[in-house]
Amino acid sequence: MTTVLVTGGCGFIGSAFLRIAVRENPDWRFVTLDKLTYAGNVANLAPIAGAPNHTFVRGDICDEALVQGLFEAHAPTHVVHFAAESHVDRSIVGPRRFFEANVMGTLTLLEAARANWRDFDGKVFLHVSTDEVFGELGDTGKFREDTPYSPNSPYSASKAGSDHIVRAYHHTYGMPIKVTNCSNNYGPYQFPEKLIPLMIQNALEGKPLPVYGRGENVRDWLFVDDHCRAILAVLERGRVGETYLVGGDCERNNLDVVRQICARVAAVRGVDPASVEALITFVKDRPGHDHRYAIDASRIQRELGWRPAETFETGLERTVQWYVDNREWVDQVRTGEYRKWLDTNYGGRSS
Ligand code: NAD
Ligand code: DAU
Repeated sequence: MTTVLVTGGCGFIGSAFLRIAVRENPDWRFVTLDKLTYAGNVANLAPIAGAPNHTFVRGDICDEALVQGLFEAHAPTHVVHFAAESHVDRSIVGPRRFFEANVMGTLTLLEAARANWRDFDGKVFLHVSTDEVFGELGDTGKFREDTPYSPNSPYSASKAGSDHIVRAYHHTYGMPIKVTNCSNNYGPYQFPEKLIPLMIQNALEGKPLPVYGRGENVRDWLFVDDHCRAILAVLERGRVGETYLVGGDCERNNLDVVRQICARVAAVRGVDPASVEALITFVKDRPGHDHRYAIDASRIQRELGWRPAETFETGLERTVQWYVDNREWVDQVRTGEYRKWLDTNYGGRSS
């Protein structure tokens, strides 16, 4: 019996993974462990509500007794570890909880797996990580699996720490780990603090679109379902002990991304794109802002036959439409805490 413990399953990517995997694998059991921080929302799992092969548990991955209890109660054979503090700007304002959740949380899960997996036959611990652990690129080149680690933000340093612990458990104890490092995701259910959902939301509401610096930083964008398909491929067919880089081969600078969002929102609204672009406001840059990320995804393409299904254009169209159609979800996640964050992050940023 395959039983998958999914941490962070109520977040943006974890919930996308569950919406796909729970339906497509009726013979597997899934147990979601999520603390429901500001970024986690059970409404993200509404499309699989009542699925007989899915159980939700609210809790903290740092809670040793709780995690031990889950291993005893559900005997997971696989762990897919999404849970993390994930927003770079928040890590700059308050780094500590990033290290608590991302480093100590990962350690707690690995220790539970080590204590409870008597043998490693048929077991997998898949650690979901980020390309930001490699630092920043200049105008050329791409990250590869053998690129040295050089994290620049508290967030990426905490993720790098977690990657190193996962690898050390493989090297030292033979833990059957797999690691994925993915580029920037976008799509439905993304908390509106990240670039794409924030800009869509602000554009729909006629609010300023705060672009950091000159908007020249480059990210490599991937539609979230494509990332989840890559994770499933690695979970099922990836080599134990290996790292797979996942990316969309889709570099865009931030200003181009925001302009494209303006064009889509204008199309939905039936207004002149220039009237939406007029909302673009250049604001004070992010401290230590990484210039460019780009992924060489040839290993996962070659070994596992993975390819993204969405282009940036089709993915963005789906995403904008989702935010237009799901105003209730947006209202629900925009709590008092969210408004406080907007004040903290953008309050002192006038350019
Ligand atoms: P998210 O912030 O949307 O969701 C994180 C989830 O983890 C939330 O449901 C939250 O409640 C939960 N969580 C946080 N701390 C927890 C704790 N201590 N115990 C239990 N649950 C906890 O993040 P996301 O964008 O879905 O990212 C998921 C994972 O993918 C993260 O590990 C992130 O580093 C990685 N990643 C994200 C991207 C991206 O572009 N968003 C790209 C590559 C990798
Ligand atoms: O590369 C993968 C990473 O991508 C993930 O590991 C992180 O969890 C995820 O948050 C994301 O990190 P970024 O910092 O790249 O994403 P963010 O959406 O915060 O910012 C994308 C770019 O847009 C970045 O260059 C900063 C810029 N930006 C962001 C915000 C929120 C703006 O110009 N204005 C904004 O208001």
